[in-house]
Amino acid sequence: MARIPEELVNSIRSQADIVDVVSDYVTLRRSGKNYMGLCPFHDEKTPSFSVNPEKQIFHCFGCGKGGSVFTFLVEHENVTFVEAVRHIARRLNITIPDTQGEREAGSEAESLARVTRFAALFFHDRLLNSDRESVVRKYAEKRGLSEETIKSFGLGYAPDSWNDLLSAAREKGIGADWLVKAGLAKAGEQRTYDAFRNRLIFPIQAPSGRVVGFGGRALSDEDQPKYLNSPESPIYRKSQVLYGLYQARDALRRQGRALVVEGYMDLLGLHEQGIQGVVALCGTALTREQARLLARYGQQAYLVYDSDQAGVRATWRAIEPLVESGLWTRVVRLPEDYDPDSYVREHGPDGFMKLVEQADSPADFMGYHANLQASGERDEVFRTLAGLIRNTSNLVHREMYREEAERRFPALQGLLASELRRASSPPGPPGPGGPGGPGGPRGPGGPGIVGRDRQATPAAPARYGDERVERDLVQLMLSDRTIAELVEGQLEPQDFKYPLYRRIVEQCLARLGDGGSYDLSGLIDTIGDDEAARVITELINTSDSGVHLEQRARDHIVRIKQKRLKESMARLMEQIKQMETGGRSSELNDAMATYMELKQQEKVLLRSARGD
Ligand code: UTP
Ligand code: MN
Repeated sequence: MARIPEELVNSIRSQADIVDVVSDYVTLRRSGKNYMGLCPFHDEKTPSFSVNPEKQIFHCFGCGKGGSVFTFLVEHENVTFVEAVRHIARRLNITIPDTQGEREAGSEAESLARVTRFAALFFHDRLLNSDRESVVRKYAEKRGLSEETIKSFGLGYAPDSWNDLLSAAREKGIGADWLVKAGLAKAGEQRTYDAFRNRLIFPIQAPSGRVVGFGGRALSDEDQPKYLNSPESPIYRKSQVLYGLYQARDALRRQGRALVVEGYMDLLGLHEQGIQGVVALCGTALTREQARLLARYGQQAYLVYDSDQAGVRATWRAIEPLVESGLWTRVVRLPEDYDPDSYVREHGPDGFMKLVEQADSPADFMGYHANLQASGERDEVFRTLAGLIRNTSNLVHREMYREEAERRFPALQGLLASELRRASSPPGPPGPGGPGGPGGPRGPGGPGIVGRDRQATPAAPARYGDERVERDLVQLMLSDRTIAELVEGQLEPQDFKYPLYRRIVEQCLARLGDGGSYDLSGLIDTIGDDEAARVITELINTSDSGVHLEQRARDHIVRIKQKRLKESMARLMEQIKQMETGGRSSELNDAMATYMELKQQEKVLLRSARGD
């Protein structure tokens, strides 16, 4: 890792002006000693985001985010700390000496970035300065692209010429070989020529805003292919870039929801109608890296692909990477022969958003598009769903997907639950009727999930799930002091419903208080409860040293908290019903308010579990 000497970081920090930097992203107004503005990290209508020039720090009174000029960039631009320092240094014209390795790797990428930036400006300039009657202007008008959109997305025009770009580049001292490397020119037998000719140009930007590649749309049907895309290069890795992410990132952070579309024009069409937080693929299938990239900005992904066969097939493939990246995933169904662009043009933003609000669950989507009469296809759907749910790392999501799947396919009831229990339980000793049966190893869609009669595998009583959660959490507490501390901060022993586990938790927490070692053998010795001692030893002996221990613990904690909230709400609802018949209105109002409060708490809890 390239590190910047600490003195240099300090020196850059002391010269930086946080108000100046933040003003690039937030409109600030002076207010006493500080500056105030709308917080870029959460959605708000009245400013609670303050910047203190004296201390060179920012702080949001609404969401609590705060830090230095560097952390502002780290949070806001999703860059590393070193990148943030470099960015500020560049603004201040301070040179940071590169390490040797960085210079070599950096130089090619930086040169390429210079080339793509130059080309983007060249194309953009050609579009802005084109005649109102020109083919490209007419085309842009026909597609409903406003001047605002053209500027926000830096759209351009590649002239109908073999060498306009090459010549303009040469004048700037950019050689043809660099254009070839960037995919902007092609080396023919005789000579090198411009790759994009007579096309509407979409510059593709990395999340940092740097132009890394281009897409070009033919202006007439005769011209083939319809879209031309620049190839990969050292700065353009298609699997890691999403078109429009750079423009969408603030909206994504605010809304938490991304709309994923297939085409450049779909995205721009939605933008024209004021719909924000949209990203588009650039002619490739959605990858895991792209899904993870999205998950850095929001928590939900809505797929809005074309309604044609290719679109449905692509949707089918995109669900998994999204779900696995922890994004709450929905599928928007467009009527036949529509894509997002044509739909929003015809039905307006409200009509489009109505479809978004009605989006399908993955189970509904699959149920709708598969031929469930054909047993092979039905099994395939079941397998896919089971695999999907099994690979959902977020426990809350997993439960919700499971419920949806069971609602859509009642035949899956019980089967999914037992499948999941197998998947999430640590490889403990085979209990009565445990593993070792004919189930076999659990691979994706391993045998056993389908074709079994529901009666043959009765659904486990609901309580079993709760017990498993408490047991697993206790096991994690026993194996790791930090998890015990985590529980201490989040739950009370009373939150554990099973007396046995409650007793163990009480003892664990008491040991934490000692300040000394978290001595479990001492625990077994002093607990004075044979059953508890036996369970403790069993849990310690069967605990796995798996990864994500803390995440698992957090998931369990959320689930327990949610359970308790739900119980309180159910009790309250009973009381409310009685009050309604009894007609005691002031108590009723209080009870309702408390109920809403609990509901809100649950919402906040789930939101924090999703990582908001
Ligand atoms: P579509 O064929 O659905 O086009 O391709 P579209 O988005 O509706 O575009 P218009 O409205 O006809 O202009 C969707 C995406 O697939 C990629 C492009 O990224 C396009 O945005 N594509 C399509 C190609 O890469 N090459 C092609 O020849 C066609
Ligand atoms: Mn289209």
